[in-house]
Amino acid sequence: MKAIEFQDVSFSYNSEEVLSDLNLEIGRGEFVAILGPNGAGKSTMLKLTLGLLRPKKGTVKVLGFNAYEERDKFVDKVGYLPQREEIHLEAPLTISQVVKLPMLAKGKKVGEESVRKALKIVGLENISDKLFSELSGGQQQKVLLARALLSDPEILLLDEPFNGVDVLSQEKIVEVLAEMSSRGKTIVAVVHNINPLLHNIDRVVLLNRRVVAVGKPNEVFSEENIVKAYGTSIPIVVCEEGYTHPLYGDYHG
Ligand SMILES: Nc1ncnc2c1ncn2[C@@H]1O[C@H](COP(=O)(O)OP(=O)(O)O)[C@@H](O)[C@H]1O
Ligand SMILES: [Mg+2]
Repeated sequence: MKAIEFQDVSFSYNSEEVLSDLNLEIGRGEFVAILGPNGAGKSTMLKLTLGLLRPKKGTVKVLGFNAYEERDKFVDKVGYLPQREEIHLEAPLTISQVVKLPMLAKGKKVGEESVRKALKIVGLENISDKLFSELSGGQQQKVLLARALLSDPEILLLDEPFNGVDVLSQEKIVEVLAEMSSRGKTIVAVVHNINPLLHNIDRVVLLNRRVVAVGKPNEVFSEENIVKAYGTSIPIVVCEEGYTHPLYGDYHG
């Protein structure tokens, strides 16, 4: 059984189709990065995987369950780090409260020990009483990663985990993901820059409303595929660190 399967999936919020005829299988224990321009449907793909949206056509399966219709059966096995823009915290919450929030919202009890453990993984166990709003972008993102790890999920879905993150926090996040990957977790990360994850990922999906290409980074980042996905020929620079994308990543020309 696959971790995640998209079978002929199409989706639209209104009249305009956002995802068309998506077919994709992600195996258990695979580490996959999703890249594509803004508006490509990357976040929508993660939400379909979480069963938060119903496909207009086709089926999304997670651990063999229908993502939309059988959400309850797998949702505890999936950890989710939403895109930064989607996090709106009205009240001043502490780190520890932010970590517990989704579980409490589901009516589940959360032990202090599991919160401490999750925060320890990202190296923030000593400041759990600090206000979330007072943290740096990197620290906030690590708190959200801890939250995604809280139920020790089998699958991790990460929407732009490096957005607004400093270099050291980025390294820590990569280290945590590498560790999770080595423990057999399935990881799907939406990123704009593949470099930080290049040595850890198994495959890349290039998305622009459709799957433009799937495979190893050196197969996927051909000029033809880049033009198809981004609508423009952006030189992909191959250097020691890997493949960089001048618009979205560090340029090591
Ligand atoms: N809740 C929504 N209602 C209507 N349109 C939406 C909604 N969320 C996203 N969209 C639109 O769907 C398209 C894909 O969005 P999204 O999945 O967020 O892309 P990405 O994450 O790749 O930037 C975009 O054109 C976006 O404007
Ligand atoms: Mg997005």
